[in-house]
Amino acid sequence: MQRFTRPAILTVASIPTVERFFRQNATTRGLVERFVAGETLDTALERVRPIAAEGMTVTLDLLGENVATEAEAQAAVAAYVETIRRMAAAGLEPNISVKLTMLGFDLGEAVAETAMGEILGAARDVGGFVRVDMEGSTYTARTLDLVEKMHGDFPDEVGTVIQSYLYRSAQDVERLIGRRMRLRLVKGAYAEPASVAYQKPAEVDASYVRLMERLLDAGRYPALATHDPALIRAAEGYATRMGIGSERFEFQMLYGVRREAQRELVRRDRRVRVYVPYGTEWYPYFTRRIAERPANALFVLRQLAG
Ligand code: FDA
Repeated sequence: MQRFTRPAILTVASIPTVERFFRQNATTRGLVERFVAGETLDTALERVRPIAAEGMTVTLDLLGENVATEAEAQAAVAAYVETIRRMAAAGLEPNISVKLTMLGFDLGEAVAETAMGEILGAARDVGGFVRVDMEGSTYTARTLDLVEKMHGDFPDEVGTVIQSYLYRSAQDVERLIGRRMRLRLVKGAYAEPASVAYQKPAEVDASYVRLMERLLDAGRYPALATHDPALIRAAEGYATRMGIGSERFEFQMLYGVRREAQRELVRRDRRVRVYVPYGTEWYPYFTRRIAERPANALFVLRQLAG
């Protein structure tokens, strides 16, 4: 099992024949559907209905990669604006997660800024919220600068993400607490060098706990995004010891990951938001979820062999 390492799985997954297999095979389709809520907004809105009925909120993420033209960035803006409006119309709390590279960040900061302005305007119209996901470390400083700038005009509509594996995060958290910005705390999903990020899981976890306590103490409605049972226990324990009520923070988990743990938190009166990805560009996201867990990879290999 140990030989199915994350980079090896991601390399195999990038072979075009393997991608074609996943896109066309009926058996693996079930596994795709576990992690991705369909290819269209209509399907995604249907899939989130039972989640809402179980007492959880959601954030919708239109899957996509870095865009190369302004027209593509504009198409992403239109899709996000539609998502926010349709969530509101469907009676859901309008909440989306966006990636700046999908909004033209690589074409220049001005392109992404204009795009964010349009999306945030639409969010404000319906009382919605936009979370700017954090990407690789070459984007961190620029992402924080842009989000801070937008936050000046949209203090209630925009927030971003802090990754506990980065050394810089302790300082970033202090700076953004000072601005009263809403933050989501994650471990971090990208392969980062030792010059910028902790490499040992125990160090990443210890950093997560330090940042989480700081955010629970002084942050504005922090979102603790993790599936890690030890970190969830640490958060609940700290909140209880410090008398921090359930209404002051939320847990976040990914669609299809540890579904029973999500329900269990709701049963304990915790707030839970599920991150729900959808769209035709699901393949790279799907392979990352498979690579995270040997059991998933083994299932896929059996299908490929069969
Ligand atoms: P960890 O990876 O240690 O997992 C803990 C346990 O959860 C595992 O032992 C397993 O039981 C279960 N589990 C995890 N993944 C699974 C899977 N695919 N299938 C089945 N079980 C699984 N990152 C980033 O860099 N920028 C961002 O903006 C975001 N945004 C974001 C939003 C939300 C809502 C979540 C939950 C996560 C992110 N992330 C992210 C990803 C994050 O950085 C991290 O890579 C993953 O959450 C995995 O880390 P955990 O904290 O869950 O712990």
